[in-house]
Amino acid sequence: MRKIYVFSIIVASVLFACKHDPLWAPLNIELHQAITNISQNGSPSYFILPESTDFGRIPQSPANPLTAEKVALGKLLFYESAFAVEAKHTSGMATFSCSSCHIPAAGFRPNRVQGIADGAYGFGTNGEGRNKRLEYAEQDIDAQGARPLSMLNVAYVTNSMWNGSFGAGGVNAGTESRWGVADPGTAINHEDLGSLEGQNIEGLKVHRLLINRELVEFYGYKAYFDAAFPDVPEAERYTRKTASFAISAYLRTLLCTEAPFQRWLKGEDDAMTDEEKRGALLFFGKAGCYRCHNEPNLGSITFHALGVQDLFENGGLKTSASDLRNLGRGGFTGNPDDMFRFRVPQLYNLGDGGPYFHGSSKNTLREVVEYFNDGIPENPRVPKSQISPFFHPLNLSISEQSDLEAFLRNGLRDPNIQRYVPDHLPSGFCFPNNDQQSRREIGCE
Ligand code: HEC
Ligand code: HEC
Repeated sequence: MRKIYVFSIIVASVLFACKHDPLWAPLNIELHQAITNISQNGSPSYFILPESTDFGRIPQSPANPLTAEKVALGKLLFYESAFAVEAKHTSGMATFSCSSCHIPAAGFRPNRVQGIADGAYGFGTNGEGRNKRLEYAEQDIDAQGARPLSMLNVAYVTNSMWNGSFGAGGVNAGTESRWGVADPGTAINHEDLGSLEGQNIEGLKVHRLLINRELVEFYGYKAYFDAAFPDVPEAERYTRKTASFAISAYLRTLLCTEAPFQRWLKGEDDAMTDEEKRGALLFFGKAGCYRCHNEPNLGSITFHALGVQDLFENGGLKTSASDLRNLGRGGFTGNPDDMFRFRVPQLYNLGDGGPYFHGSSKNTLREVVEYFNDGIPENPRVPKSQISPFFHPLNLSISEQSDLEAFLRNGLRDPNIQRYVPDHLPSGFCFPNNDQQSRREIGCE
């Protein structure tokens, strides 16, 4: 009896100490040390994301310096379906936007295996209820053979897409002969506008969005373009290029600065729970996640094969076993060494919407953690020789896997993404989608 009593006091005092968790608490010290060890500048501050208004610190393209006016315009254009006038059928006109596939409340991902803009209708609660329209042939829908990437912390993406094909510098230096080859859109790299700036000019075309003076004036956007681009001659001011610059400026401000891990890095010792801290310790230590996820957005501009399935195997439309996207970086460079290697994606707000991996083969973060823990490739088309040597069984216990999942799900979740979403649009249109069923489901009518 007495023994149990003493034991309880010890347990209680340990719990009490953990609850407060000052920096000198063992877990905080250990985590601080682990992050210092692997940080690219020798300090945990390397992982602190800049505030979204701190334009001096946000990575940007010299061709498109950040301004508040560009960000304000981009914050509207990203959600605007008034420009969706290049739909393949009249039923699709003015019903979709960038945010149809990049839904803010779903971590700027589609919350379904595939994003579909033109050629689909419906939203459900958070994107999962979107379906192909019957009158569209499968080839006519706007959908790609890989799961959409997140827009969060995308300022750190110097070479965008799963294959890193956009952006003139960084890992694309030396790949010039490939620009415009597999994907004609990548010819834009020759203009060296910035990865996002170049890609989004092409993206506006691919996603059937047209920007011209007539539409800009009609839907009440002229003053926004004039304020954002006063130095651009009027004849060039209302175009896909300026729209892309504004959208790209906005996207660069989407930083997850309020996530518990960010607050912890900034000195709030108890911003993360002990479970999340233990998960972080595994992430930056024993589980080896940091080997690839090691830039400030916890992704990196490096390419690795994990041997995951492709989208055609998981219900993706308009894609197949011969989709060039299945080859990852290799599909862009043509280099045998690059085959089946994919860019390391950022990891914030992933719990807001699945599925996971480029082929949407995992429905939950737990399944992702289990995949890394098992270390067994699931895609037989990827030769063993291509699989990353860092992908191998980790032998984590069940509770360690739970800790890692808690770090991903909660530690890396900014709970206030809504601050980046407009209240309404100048057109008055519904967003993320503007078709009738979506309007009902979103609550626009
Ligand atoms: C039909 C769905 C869909 C629509 C609509 C859409 N996207 Fe995407 N987006 C994707 C997919 C899929 C990818 C990843 C493709 C790949 O890497 O192969 C992607 C990737 C991106 C990336 C690269 C992110 C990174 O980390 O590399 C950016 C930036 C982007 N989209 C911006 C936009 C903008 C801006 C718009 C509107 C003009 C838009 N998207 C509309 C599906 C969509
Ligand atoms: C060898 C490099 C490497 C290591 C080590 C690694 N990852 Fe990744 N991770 C990647 C790549 C590459 C992808 C994208 C793979 C794909 O979809 O083809 C990815 C994808 C993910 C995703 C899914 C993101 C999304 O948008 O769908 C999560 C979550 C993730 N990793 C977490 C982890 C965790 C947790 C660990 C440690 C247990 C880890 N990773 C270790 C390279 C790595």
